[in-house]
Amino acid sequence: MDLKEAKALARSRMGDKRFEHTLNVKKMAVKMAKHYGVDPDQAALAALLHDTAKEMPAARQLELLRSHPDLAEDAENRPAPVWHGICAAILARTEWGITDEAVLSAIGCHTTGKPGMGALDKIIFLADMTSAERSWEGVEELRRLEMVDLDEAMLSALEQTVGYVIRSGKPVDPMSARTYEDLKRTFAPAAR
Ligand SMILES: [Fe+2]
Ligand SMILES: [Fe+2]
Repeated sequence: MDLKEAKALARSRMGDKRFEHTLNVKKMAVKMAKHYGVDPDQAALAALLHDTAKEMPAARQLELLRSHPDLAEDAENRPAPVWHGICAAILARTEWGITDEAVLSAIGCHTTGKPGMGALDKIIFLADMTSAERSWEGVEELRRLEMVDLDEAMLSALEQTVGYVIRSGKPVDPMSARTYEDLKRTFAPAAR
């Protein structure tokens, strides 16, 4: 699947607002990829596909996860908002012919991160949080930080997302918590 086909697929699977978000994520991800020496086409492809399962009904997402237990990352036992990334990665791999493991990984972990994230994983995670239409308090600072240091930006992003989930009284996905611990361990603040 080339970028043109991925864009058409994304367009066909989401409403106008989410498609606009998708294009904004793509723009931000390509900018970061160029800055950090990552292939911009990989970033564009992952960005275009990252939310392609978000408008699937939850029951269909669950059905897809159950039909691919080897790829489902135990999603069924995790909070429902994390399902759509894993579902999009499953569809990309099994139905849309995507074979690039880095792209599949970035799609799959865009909501929660995961321990040992690669550069493309971090770029898609951060681009999703800082795309042009986002206006949450602190987004400007994260937009600055993500062009300076990917790890520091990830740590700051995780602090905010995990904190937000806790404050809204929802369960924290164990993968997010593990990602946060992993980043804290590997990124020594003393070296800043
Ligand atoms: Fe998403
Ligand atoms: Fe998104």
